[in-house]
Amino acid sequence: MKIMTVFGTRPEAIKMCPLVNELKTRKNIDTKVCVTGQHKQMLTQVLEVFGVKPDYNLSIMTEKQTLFDITVNILERIKPVLEKEKPDVCLVHGDTSTSFVTALACFYLQIPVGHVEAGLRTYNIYSPYPEEFNRQAVSIVSKYNFAPTERAKKNLLSEGKAPESIWVTGNTVIDALKTTVKKDYYHPEIEWASDSRLIFITAHRRENLGEPMRNMFRAIKRVLDENPGIKALYPVHMNPVIRQIAAEELGGCDRIHLTEPVDVFDCHNIMAKSYLVLTDSGGIQEEAPSLGKPVLVMRDTTERPEGVEAGTLKLVGTNEDVIYNSFSELLTNSDAYNKMAKAVNPFGDGFACGRIADILTDSRSKDK
Ligand code: UD1
Ligand code: UDP
Repeated sequence: MKIMTVFGTRPEAIKMCPLVNELKTRKNIDTKVCVTGQHKQMLTQVLEVFGVKPDYNLSIMTEKQTLFDITVNILERIKPVLEKEKPDVCLVHGDTSTSFVTALACFYLQIPVGHVEAGLRTYNIYSPYPEEFNRQAVSIVSKYNFAPTERAKKNLLSEGKAPESIWVTGNTVIDALKTTVKKDYYHPEIEWASDSRLIFITAHRRENLGEPMRNMFRAIKRVLDENPGIKALYPVHMNPVIRQIAAEELGGCDRIHLTEPVDVFDCHNIMAKSYLVLTDSGGIQEEAPSLGKPVLVMRDTTERPEGVEAGTLKLVGTNEDVIYNSFSELLTNSDAYNKMAKAVNPFGDGFACGRIADILTDSRSKDK
């Protein structure tokens, strides 16, 4: 059988490359990889770490691309690829516009879609934006739904998806994490922060661009200014809008390092050695619990309530004072910190890729 895996951004690549490598070990599967190139440098970083060489690269990225640009360009450029390859199943991941548009193209061409990381929901169509729409739209057309958790499965069932189309596999990000984190890890930024507590920061959500992001950064700057014993590392997303806000709000403080994005190997290991994480990222909410790192989630909603229930994630929104107070508390109140710093992992056992490959081969042989 022929399986085509399509992805385009950093987080999709981190969660799909281990699956591509698993599929490649299966003799009965012809594996094709198409990247949309929604991201460029940040995608290449991941492909290099996992040694994945795409068969197709649609190279759609433009500077400050809009949702219209992404949608139109992928739809147009993926059509000939899908028509040529005619895969038995096309795998997409999560909630990016790459995933939504690819699923739409597959629907138009009546190619079965498998959805990895299916069933995450906030049920607020504007938060995160446009991801909540994207993942719900993929669920309308997907034939195979690989839910990372029981809760995700429940969401899909409550929306009327057929039980026999849903499998709880765990999240493939845990498979990735198993291969990256090393005990004897060294990085110059870790050395730089060795006399301090290291805070790891990322931020990129579309709905946070502008004032919410400025609030986040101002809160962080206030805490840094008041606490000489901490240093922060922020590998800044390549979006020029974010770079400008980050430089304006956080530049010029010698205890905050604004760097280029780090590759996934460095990212996981640096997180493992940090004290605390502040982020609006989705994937980091899944990784940090395994690493026992408290995360202040600078968003109003999360589709990963499992991490909040486990105690590692705290939703703090984008209000400056709320972030400032929560961040300050975790530096001064060791009880509050220790409660969040337990290593728990509600997102899988690291064998999700093998399960997905087994399910696809079993289901296809039953279909015939
Ligand atoms: C996208 C996804 C989001 C995901 C995020 C992960 C959509 C609509 N958004 O958002 O769900 O959480 O990726 O990071 O699918 N850029 C570069 N080089 C890169 C990557 C980005 O220069 O390697 C710049 C470009 O100017 C680009 C901009 O960043 O136009 C924004 O990229 P885009 O993919 O549109 O949005 P993200 O915020 O990255
Ligand atoms: N990440 C990385 N380098 C960085 C920042 C993040 O490799 O400089 C990884 C991080 O470990 C996680 C993923 O990127 O696996 C999260 O991606 P992002 O926050 O861009 O997207 P989201 O998960 O919010 O969709």
